[in-house]
Amino acid sequence: MGGTGRKMTCAPVIESVTFSGVEDYFGESVAAKYDESSAEMFAPQAVDPVVEVLAGLAGAGRALELGIGTGRIALPLAARGVPVSGIDLSSAMAARLRAKPGGDAIDVTIGDFATARVAGAFSVVYLVYNTIGNLTSQEAQVACFRTAAAHLEPGGCFVVEVGVPELRKLPPGQTVVPFDLSATHWGFDRYDVSTQSMSSYHARVADGRGEFRAIPFRYVWPAELDLMAQLAGLRLRSRWENWDGKPFTHDSEQHVSIWEKPLG
Ligand SMILES: C[S@@+](CC[C@H](N)C(=O)[O-])C[C@H]1O[C@@H](n2cnc3c(N)ncnc32)[C@H](O)[C@@H]1O
Repeated sequence: MGGTGRKMTCAPVIESVTFSGVEDYFGESVAAKYDESSAEMFAPQAVDPVVEVLAGLAGAGRALELGIGTGRIALPLAARGVPVSGIDLSSAMAARLRAKPGGDAIDVTIGDFATARVAGAFSVVYLVYNTIGNLTSQEAQVACFRTAAAHLEPGGCFVVEVGVPELRKLPPGQTVVPFDLSATHWGFDRYDVSTQSMSSYHARVADGRGEFRAIPFRYVWPAELDLMAQLAGLRLRSRWENWDGKPFTHDSEQHVSIWEKPLG
């Protein structure tokens, strides 16, 4: 830290734990800081449009969130009167959700959302904040679409919010794209275009202490997601750039895609 004279210690890479053969990267130390470190995603301007769309799709039915986390979307959606259930691998994240006001009304199943089943039928199943990428193989992502479809009632919708892979930012021979550079956080993604694997690296400074975290993803294209939906018996209803319904274009950096389960 050039010139500041501040002394820093560096915490080791946060280790994952394995749950039913799947790595959990959202253990206690991550869960404890999740809401604070994603503060801008908890702001009303980020949450309200998501809840508006999901409440509209849920109608009088139920909603299921895959990777429900600490309830960023599930809690305000439930507060709108939509019965919400969730699946998450991380007991630590689920414990944070349960401790919040309204958390006890949300039924959370601890398991892998690629395969875990929850009783009943849902009018909307949703997977937001790039969480589809936490499934690090194509096989698991396809299984996730099949699992989402199996939870939907006819006419129900599966919604995914995820970034468009930033490969256009990679000049030949380069594998790393920085995505944040502030006084307290440096973030960069490393891509392997031969496998569609990507790792996000975060170096953070808090209270004079350095911390490093790495988490693996599988990046996935909109067209590939459409094929996964097709394999699961779903068809594309809408694709937007954002939750306000802005049209998706060649310059969009993320998309909100809605696939529906045909009636009968
Ligand atoms: C980026 S957080 C998003 C949490 C919440 N959806 C939100 O928008 O704030 C990703 C969540 O997905 C969970 N997760 C990741 N992979 C999972 C898997 N295979 N099965 C179940 N949950 C998973 C993590 O434990 C974490 O809670």
